[in-house]
Amino acid sequence: MKKFVSLLLVFIMIFSFCACSPKEKPIKIVTVTDTHFTGKEAFSYEGTFALANDSNGTGKQVKYVEEIFDAFVSEMLYEKPEYIVITGDIVFNGAKASHLAFAEKLKVLSEEGIKILVLPGNHDITGSSFVFPNGEAEVAESVTPDEFREIYSEFGYSGGISYDENSLSYVYDTEKGVRIFMLDTNVFYGATLGNLSEATLIWLEEQLSSCKEAGDVPIVAGHHSLLSHNPRFDLNYKLGNGDKVSEIITEYGGNLYLCGHLHTQHFVHTEEITDIVGGGFCVYPHRYGVIDFFKESWTYESKATSVSAYAENIGSTDENLLQYSDFGYNFFYDNAYAQAKETIYSVVNDPELAEKYSVFSAKLNVAYFGGVFSDLDLSFAEDFIAATEGTGWSSYMKTILLDTKDNVYCQWPLETE
Ligand SMILES: [Fe+2]
Repeated sequence: MKKFVSLLLVFIMIFSFCACSPKEKPIKIVTVTDTHFTGKEAFSYEGTFALANDSNGTGKQVKYVEEIFDAFVSEMLYEKPEYIVITGDIVFNGAKASHLAFAEKLKVLSEEGIKILVLPGNHDITGSSFVFPNGEAEVAESVTPDEFREIYSEFGYSGGISYDENSLSYVYDTEKGVRIFMLDTNVFYGATLGNLSEATLIWLEEQLSSCKEAGDVPIVAGHHSLLSHNPRFDLNYKLGNGDKVSEIITEYGGNLYLCGHLHTQHFVHTEEITDIVGGGFCVYPHRYGVIDFFKESWTYESKATSVSAYAENIGSTDENLLQYSDFGYNFFYDNAYAQAKETIYSVVNDPELAEKYSVFSAKLNVAYFGGVFSDLDLSFAEDFIAATEGTGWSSYMKTILLDTKDNVYCQWPLETE
């Protein structure tokens, strides 16, 4: 199987597999992932919670997650997609309070006729969880798989045409010739690993077969990726049996897989299937994907949520929200810069050079997550890697800079073959 990798997302992807009637109306599907929602009552952004989040290296914009999701909801009420597919890590750490608050937000959309489909990520059913009502940790109620089903009963866990007995996977029939397969890719709840069990594989194949027999086309979604997007993270972020799952999907006519988990806006495609990781909604620039799905072709466009426009519309006086493109960028950049600096200053003796490399790699990290590599000077990338060789940060940066082919420093724009 030949594989094409793009380190970056081309913002508008158009895949046509054969000509379709121009009169055919597409199904409009928005895909969003890794919202890591908290809920303000249970999570107050202060004290230990704020300190830990600001320094944990993930760059999650937890302080404003509610406002940012409200901005997304407002955009959806305007865009009016038929479906919103949410591919897991809905909440921050499995707290029931966060799930309940999030489900309330979804109701606003479903009341306007938008069908929401969710599936669990590794942060949704955790076995134990904490809330931070005053910025300090308190043990909190988490959710069981049955409770997850119940909380999201209006959002996929009722009305589907088949529910897997061995996981939270299901199939939803749009009744427009397209079936949406929502896969629960968690090996077991509370672990980061992803894999489909033998029993779920059998169920999946049966469902894909009946989809094909009905003349319908499948779109498949899960939390973990099918294919490798970054070799450094394959163990925990790619489905252990992704190649097998990919083979089954394509055998029955599927060519699009949607996922999250990595938080980077990124796609990989083989000759048979495209695997799109949506940018983590919890990190700047808070992306979502808009898909126009015809039965025989589809387009995908990645969009960033307009937080400042929303803040202005609601009359917010919070300058961080009103100037969000600066605030959001800087928060994510500072987080990356702090990580870069810690390593680089310890191995590069020249302070001027260490600063230059720290700034460069922080910008590179922001670009990687956002899927935008313009305005980056890559001319000294090779020197930077050589000077920091042997460190974890350097090998991570190298995976961003290198395409998987030929160990060549990526040239921008990177072209898929
Ligand atoms: Fe995840």
